[in-house]
Amino acid sequence: MMKLLLVALALPALALAADTKCNMASESLYPPKPETALPWHDINLDLPAQERWVNVTKPLAPQISDMVYQVIDLLPSYLREKVMAALDQGADKILDAFPEDFGDEIRGIANATGIDVGALIVYNIAYEIEGGCTSLVARDGQNRTFHARNLDFGLFFGWDKANETWALTEKLRPLLFNARIWKGGKVMYNATYFAGYVGLLTGMKTGGFSITVDTRYDNTFWKGLIEFFEGDTSGHFVGFTTRQVMESQATYAEALQALQSYKMVGPSYMILGGVQPNEGAIITRSMNESLHLWTLENDAHNTGFYVIETNYDNWVDPPFYDNRRGPAETCLQQIGTDNVEFDSLFNMLSAQPNLNLLTTYTTLMNVAEGRFEAYHQKCTTHPCTPW
Ligand SMILES: *[C@@H]1O[C@H](CO)[C@@H](O)[C@H](O)[C@H]1NC(C)=O
Ligand SMILES: *[C@@H]1O[C@H](CO)[C@@H](O)[C@H](O)[C@H]1NC(C)=O
Ligand SMILES: *[C@@H]1O[C@H](CO)[C@@H](O)[C@H](O)[C@H]1NC(C)=O
Ligand SMILES: *[C@@H]1O[C@H](CO)[C@@H](O)[C@H](O)[C@H]1NC(C)=O
Ligand SMILES: *[C@@H]1O[C@H](CO)[C@@H](O)[C@H](O)[C@H]1NC(C)=O
Ligand SMILES: *[C@@H]1O[C@H](CO)[C@@H](O)[C@H](O)[C@H]1NC(C)=O
Repeated sequence: MMKLLLVALALPALALAADTKCNMASESLYPPKPETALPWHDINLDLPAQERWVNVTKPLAPQISDMVYQVIDLLPSYLREKVMAALDQGADKILDAFPEDFGDEIRGIANATGIDVGALIVYNIAYEIEGGCTSLVARDGQNRTFHARNLDFGLFFGWDKANETWALTEKLRPLLFNARIWKGGKVMYNATYFAGYVGLLTGMKTGGFSITVDTRYDNTFWKGLIEFFEGDTSGHFVGFTTRQVMESQATYAEALQALQSYKMVGPSYMILGGVQPNEGAIITRSMNESLHLWTLENDAHNTGFYVIETNYDNWVDPPFYDNRRGPAETCLQQIGTDNVEFDSLFNMLSAQPNLNLLTTYTTLMNVAEGRFEAYHQKCTTHPCTPW
């Protein structure tokens, strides 16, 4: 709905966005240049919460600060008023309402970086409000299951006409890293992170499952989010929920059950991958329910080997002004189940419009084999679709 406003701004891109042609390069783009691989850091959950993120966030304090204050502008004004009013009442009350010790982790990041804790709270809930993405789980001819995603973020934040970039998207790029999350003296899972954000948008536990999150828009206008800031803290934030599930559940089946049962603050798409050939799911969530489940097992849309999600309900046509699902499906059909692998999925996610001016990274995962790779992504072959 918000994106409609931008249609006028980007008419030339429309022709590209509206059709369902696959724009995949004919030559392989994989492996990409080594310098595009995200750096790795270790996050140790055995440490006190306030110390966990210090090493990663302290050196990036200026970059995090630069970005966090822009994110506050991202909130629609009526939502911003509620959030600011709640922050005036005291950030501690909000931090204490966050699950586990995530509030303390955010306090530790504030202490390490000198960034206002209220601003960090807003940054940690931003993904509820805005985010574009492509996530998919696909099976190859040998029954190996792959999970891949692009993360797009920063729509509406400072269109830089000269550079044809989104200012906020550019500010996120230096914050990207992969984390090995340690617990009980061993690596429990891998995740792709923006420094300063403590939820889970992309993660994988070898031998267990993988999760990605795509933003969903519905007609409740952030009712649950507003209720949270007004004091009803029974709803769960999506990135915190996926992190809790990653840390508390062992198998795909358990994660599938858990992700459908939380009461959420807002709508979302949760994408789950596993180790077995039928373990792949797109869960469409509203705040109170799981509305729709498309899995490799039920093959609800008769694709034969994949499930895919962008930012629109997958059982209806995507809007004409933002059809990233059509081209992605054309590419997947062109690849075919026999050729599903990191290289073909990377090529597909490097093709416009799934690669667009908001795209920040691509992560490729194979849960059974314990392979987890993430790369910086930036659309530089103009004209790029703006989203
Ligand atoms: C931070 O890095 C130092 C030096 O590499 C290391 O000794 C320390 O354990 C790390 N601290 C945390 C909280 O990870
Ligand atoms: C805040 O950071 C300082 C060092 O910059 C450290 O000595 C102190 O323990 C930290 N406080 C908390 C509550 O983590
Ligand atoms: C893939 O798994 C299905 C059942 O889950 C089985 O029928 C089929 O033979 C398997 N294919 C291969 C190539 O292993
Ligand atoms: C945009 O272009 C201007 C002028 O060419 C340059 O100074 C600036 O750093 C660029 N901004 C970004 C975010 O790349
Ligand atoms: C994390 O990713 C690395 C690199 O791909 C892999 O070797 C390791 O098995 C993964 N660990 C877990 C717990 O998923
Ligand atoms: C979700 O449930 C709560 C309490 O049961 C109710 O107040 C709210 O209106 C529901 N939200 C939606 C979007 O249906």
